[in-house]
Amino acid sequence: MANIELTESQKRTLMMQGIDPDRASREDIEKILGITIRLEEAGIHISNALNELNNHVREYDFPIIGRIAKVRDGDTIEISGAFGSGKTNLRHTIAAWFVKNTDRNVLYVDTERTFMAKRLKKMCGDDKLLSRIHFVRVESTQKLLDLVSMIDNVKKQYNIGLLIVDSIINPFRAEYVGVKELAERQQLLNFCMQTMKRVMNDGVLIITNQMVANPISFAHNQPAGGNIMGHFATLRFMITKEGQKRTLKLIDAPHLAPCHVQFRITDEGCKVVRKRERKGDNT
Ligand SMILES: Nc1ncnc2c1ncn2[C@@H]1O[C@H](COP(=O)(O)OP(=O)(O)OP(=O)(O)O)[C@@H](O)[C@H]1O
Ligand SMILES: [Mg+2]
Repeated sequence: MANIELTESQKRTLMMQGIDPDRASREDIEKILGITIRLEEAGIHISNALNELNNHVREYDFPIIGRIAKVRDGDTIEISGAFGSGKTNLRHTIAAWFVKNTDRNVLYVDTERTFMAKRLKKMCGDDKLLSRIHFVRVESTQKLLDLVSMIDNVKKQYNIGLLIVDSIINPFRAEYVGVKELAERQQLLNFCMQTMKRVMNDGVLIITNQMVANPISFAHNQPAGGNIMGHFATLRFMITKEGQKRTLKLIDAPHLAPCHVQFRITDEGCKVVRKRERKGDNT
């Protein structure tokens, strides 16, 4: 008898071919069920579009971003923008929303010393919610790599559904300077992002990115991190700022055309600017 765990439908398929699933040899089973058995043993599950469509994936109506796209488990979101554009405030607003609206927790990785517990308290309004936003300050590439190598266990221990990194590029930019070190920097950056993405495949990963002026083409206002960052996120956003008006722009998503939403920063977090407010606003 083959030592293979069969599903009910696989057993039925064998019986229809006149083979007793309890007595069949491995060769007989593989001949009839094809390669599926070996794939499953290797942890590879081939699905189909219909199953995928009916597969229930949690969806989130995040503040501001929700005006443009529903966020789903497994999504990775990049938010870039110039200094002072509102990236950190939007991140805090989403963290508070997440603990208010789900039963899982947040891990906020702060590489820029801009984590604002007081602001979060105002947004959450409740210490119990506030205590579900975990926070770790990471100020060197080595510490970030150490954290990333343990992120799977951290996620389980703290029941993390939303991982925020503000910003991913900061330690790398500080420590890897010049073209000579670029290849190594990009490799480590890629390792960090791919590991976090894999671990958060049943949650959401949000990373902040800084802007860079391209020294070769003199093209300004590009998200930093080159192609590695460009291909990483499911939803790529950029924030632009004109006076106190801030605009979140969707710059890349596989299923949506580019679009945008205006928001403003308040003590209670980021708020969408409605049409009527926009008309009367001359800032
Ligand atoms: N309560 C508030 N009401 C209105 N505007 C605020 C408030 N708090 C902060 N701001 C504005 O938010 C801006 C800073 O936003 P934020 O720190 O989110 O930007 P950032 O994109 O993360 O910048 P950096 O790249 O420097 O980290 C400042 O210009 C500040 O004036
Ligand atoms: Mg910031």
